[in-house]
Amino acid sequence: MAKFYATTKNDVSNREIEHMIRVRKLAAECMVLLENDGVLPFKKKIGNIALYGNGARKTIKGGTGSGDVNSRSVVNIEQGLEAVGYTVTSKKWIERYEKIYHNAFTQYWTKLEKDAKEVGVPAFALRMSNPFSEPPLPMVKESDVESADTNTAIYVLARNSGEGADRSEKEGDYLLTEDEKSIIIYLSEKFEQFIVLLNVGGVIDTKVLKSIPGINALVLISQSGNIGGYAVADMLVGATIPSGKLTATWAENYNEYSSSEGFSSNDGNTDDEYYTEGIFTGYRYFDTFNITPSYCFGYGLALTTFQIQVEDVKADSNEVTVAVKVTNTGSENPGREVVQIYSSAPQEHLEKPYQELSAFGKTSMLKPGDSETLIISFKTTSMASYSEEKSAWIMEAGSYYIRVGNSSRSTKVVAKINLDKEVMTEKVMNLFKDENPVKDMSISGIQSYSYDGEVSEKEGAPVITLSSVDFSCNIIEYHPANDALIDMNANHKITMDEVISGKYTLDELTAQLTVEEMANLCCGTAKGLEIMSAVGSSSITVPGAAGDTTTIMKEDRNINEVILADGPAGLRLVPHFVASDDGVILSESSAFTTEGKDIRKVGEEIEGTHYYQYCTAIPIATLLASSWDMELIEECGYIVGKEMQEMHVTLWLAPGMNNHRNPLCGRNFEYYSEDPLLSGMCAAASTKGAQSIAGIGTTIKHFAANNQENNRFLSCSHVSERALREIYIKSFEIAIKTAQPMSIMSSYNLLNGIHTANSRDLLTTVARNEWGFAGIVMTDWFTTQNMDMLFGGVGKKNKYDISSPTMCIYAGNDLIMPGSDNDIDSIIAGVQSGELNLGDLQACAKHILNIIMRSHQYKGAKPYSEQFTELPYAVNVKKQ
Ligand code: BGC
Repeated sequence: MAKFYATTKNDVSNREIEHMIRVRKLAAECMVLLENDGVLPFKKKIGNIALYGNGARKTIKGGTGSGDVNSRSVVNIEQGLEAVGYTVTSKKWIERYEKIYHNAFTQYWTKLEKDAKEVGVPAFALRMSNPFSEPPLPMVKESDVESADTNTAIYVLARNSGEGADRSEKEGDYLLTEDEKSIIIYLSEKFEQFIVLLNVGGVIDTKVLKSIPGINALVLISQSGNIGGYAVADMLVGATIPSGKLTATWAENYNEYSSSEGFSSNDGNTDDEYYTEGIFTGYRYFDTFNITPSYCFGYGLALTTFQIQVEDVKADSNEVTVAVKVTNTGSENPGREVVQIYSSAPQEHLEKPYQELSAFGKTSMLKPGDSETLIISFKTTSMASYSEEKSAWIMEAGSYYIRVGNSSRSTKVVAKINLDKEVMTEKVMNLFKDENPVKDMSISGIQSYSYDGEVSEKEGAPVITLSSVDFSCNIIEYHPANDALIDMNANHKITMDEVISGKYTLDELTAQLTVEEMANLCCGTAKGLEIMSAVGSSSITVPGAAGDTTTIMKEDRNINEVILADGPAGLRLVPHFVASDDGVILSESSAFTTEGKDIRKVGEEIEGTHYYQYCTAIPIATLLASSWDMELIEECGYIVGKEMQEMHVTLWLAPGMNNHRNPLCGRNFEYYSEDPLLSGMCAAASTKGAQSIAGIGTTIKHFAANNQENNRFLSCSHVSERALREIYIKSFEIAIKTAQPMSIMSSYNLLNGIHTANSRDLLTTVARNEWGFAGIVMTDWFTTQNMDMLFGGVGKKNKYDISSPTMCIYAGNDLIMPGSDNDIDSIIAGVQSGELNLGDLQACAKHILNIIMRSHQYKGAKPYSEQFTELPYAVNVKKQ
């Protein structure tokens, strides 16, 4: 009989309340004030308020797909405003819109179900590649304005996106619709105080909004989880203080992004994606090519003003340290400032971006008149660039300028670090060869961005001289092949308890496993399951969890299974299920919405034992990153970690941390930023928070160059080795070196002609040999299976093939998820035929056993991170 860990009590638990309170407080801090003429915070804290927009009642808590979270309730903005004391007086309009929405959604779902039936798949699977488009809005009439009886209006502009489909540059997505524009203009003329809130997961066009003079404030509230409405209302009345900064560049025009022309379906080709922009992505491109964005990277207003004074800059071959005093120079509101440090490397043999983020720190909440000094350090060698020619990280000779400010476009040069000769900081080997190598864009003849006074700042900056002889080079030693382990204890069957107690080693246990046992261990347990029930919800003991590992050695060796659940905005589990006395699940066991019904209510009428697994939806990753507050992100990691512990989940399939290469990637909301340092640090913080709890771990994903959703299973990213190392895998390197996540998930896409799931260069040579990764690598779901039927590609001709199970094992992709009979059979046949080395299979098995052994499946488990006592830091901040 299956044992369930879910509770049978349907009351709101103390944990739910405690987590809601914590998230409510921190979510508002992440929000970004794009414009504010002083209208915020509202002076009048109660009274009538007119609320419009598609996000007013249908507020989006986070995107769709595997990143969704099933919470007990979702607080919308209308409810949030009412909870803090306002009376929403535009309900007639809200109700008109709700009716339109309901009809449109019903039509959409009916068609989806019909189409799904025709191809024999569940509707929720087709939903991924056929997202719902927002219906047209009802116009706001004169009578609406009159009956609103207030001088204050709010418009909530919402956009949703998710896994399986990229966004589009069309109206209703990246662009505003004509309806939206005319309603917003109308409201801006009719109301004295008018605020637009962006309930979006990614970048949208802000040109129109900026051209409307009557908008008094524009706030990126983003998608802040199930208490979203409360957090927004708190922020509007000043109960919490927004202090977020953008984590990506918001362009004036979509086509100004360096990747726009060829991105995803834009050029009609989703088989091959050529990253021709090389390292010039995000602000690195906008600054170097002197394009003025609508809102630059790192931008965000405060409710007050700050003075940023650099008190000292020190540098040696080890670190650069900047002491910055921040003073709240306003007179009314408190606030927090983000001090951002950028560096500009010399333009020598290698072309460099105008500037790159080197470090940052956020002040505490400062009251008017208060000051705080931040002492921010980063590694000097983090300013190195990657030379393909030398297969090494190098710092070229010349001047490195250190810039300090509160956004990428408001900095001052505060020091010039002169290096006498070129130094090699790390020697690696050339990897990721591509038969059709992409040629990176060049900056030859380009005049980069500059500002008045920059030249004299550079000339007058204090000079620090570094000598090349003081640097040492880290020469990576690559490990040889995995030799086969030989069983030396043939007359004794080793159990996991004996390894935990130290009587035997993991090597000794692994050496005893048969090929069949190892093949089972290295594949998730979805084998034999109907493929539909395996999509993202194949776990047996924790319904809705995305998968689990084998139980076949539980009885004889006490090797327990571990359970894996999505992420990243919390845990995605079935919120409510019903089981019979003998443990058979009688209700829906998929954690995706089915038949358009409320998934929390599915199965209410069924007789049996009712179980509940309500989880907290935390803010989406981009919003969390907008806080630029690593403690806050750590706290969110901890919150989810506590829920994992309660629900019996070992591995969180999060954080997602792909680079925001282009704003139209459907999953950008699950990822942090366009900058690898910020992304890497956020993933590390989230990992630290979760892994401070005994026996559970995170899974950083999707490794790597997974920056689009259209044709996601079989699209090939062609990226130069330099761009990969400096941008697309840099964030993973930072997260691994500084936080040692328990796990990595490889991505679906191919990279330079080979599936990342099959890439030994990526998964073993780089992650383990170069960076010292110590956990397990797993595939993304179904990368070894053809998914065309499920995700709407029936009859599609694919240029590239699916990934191979034996190559996964060869590459060091320890765990194939969710696992199939074919995966297991292929591995066994691979070893038998000699195509696969026994040593490689044993290495994968051992990595998994190591994680299982350290998991909370065993009494006395410690926090996984505790074993890594001396992890380096990327940025260190002290407050004085
Ligand atoms: C997604 C992953 C997710 C997995 C399990 C895949 O479709 O790409 O991010 O963790 O499903 O649900």
